[in-house]
Amino acid sequence: MRGKVIVVSGGAGGIGAEVSARLVGEGAQVVVADLNAGDGGMACDITNPEQCEAVAEAAVKQFGRLDGVVNCAGLSKPHDSISLPPADWARMVDVQLNGAFYFAQACAKRMMESGGAIVFITSTNAEAAFPRRAAYCCAKAGVAMLTKVLAIEWAEKGIRVNAVGPAYVATEMTQRNIAAGNVNEAQIKARIPLGRLAQPADVADAVCFLLSEKASFITGHSLYVDGGWLAYGYF
Ligand SMILES: NC(=O)c1ccc[n+]([C@@H]2O[C@H](COP(=O)([O-])OP(=O)(O)OC[C@H]3O[C@@H](n4cnc5c(N)ncnc54)[C@H](O)[C@@H]3O)[C@@H](O)[C@H]2O)c1
Repeated sequence: MRGKVIVVSGGAGGIGAEVSARLVGEGAQVVVADLNAGDGGMACDITNPEQCEAVAEAAVKQFGRLDGVVNCAGLSKPHDSISLPPADWARMVDVQLNGAFYFAQACAKRMMESGGAIVFITSTNAEAAFPRRAAYCCAKAGVAMLTKVLAIEWAEKGIRVNAVGPAYVATEMTQRNIAAGNVNEAQIKARIPLGRLAQPADVADAVCFLLSEKASFITGHSLYVDGGWLAYGYF
């Protein structure tokens, strides 16, 4: 990653912060974009295409190029489908799906000459249905398809597009869901063949691999970092 310029959305969150730290550790220049700008990050709501453009432009202005994108921004708000307010449905799809597209599009415009790599954080919920997560599951499934479409469309520009789909990761998002009674930690561990939640580092490993030259012939792929969750089909 030495010398690469990578933009990370949601870089203030659990997965995004780990990915950013890892990339910096490997010698990359990282531009963090998040609703909560935090220390040294850029304030950006990825549902706003102009703000996405501003982040991509700032990265190129500051570092002279753009090599990669990791889209980690997201939210989780389980709710019974029967009473889900339309505004909540719309916001979920806006952040998880529309925002992923706007962010990737803004960055890809700056990689059309040089090539690059894009990694979306999806979820096992791109494949596996959970109750009370209709908008989340549909949006993540949408991003898995977006990964494939952008991969084949931008391949001729040397831009690879892949996704990393975790099962439950030990981050604040998961802690909030446990605290709110949406997730039972013991049940989750029992459902995961490898018997534990993912650590943000597990996700960062997969992201860095897909960004790197080691994945130079991999595009349009969703890599599930799930401890065997999706494979499991027994009782
Ligand atoms: N934690 C898990 O168990 C888990 C599992 C599977 C997938 N994911 C996905 O991984 C991604 C990161 O999750 P996390 O666990 O790090 O969550 P997190 O809540 O710790 O971090 C999410 C970050 O995204 C930012 N964000 C939210 N809306 C934004 C917007 N509109 N524009 C810019 N930034 C915004 C938040 O400010 C926060 O810093 C999400 O897409 C999530 O759906 C998480």
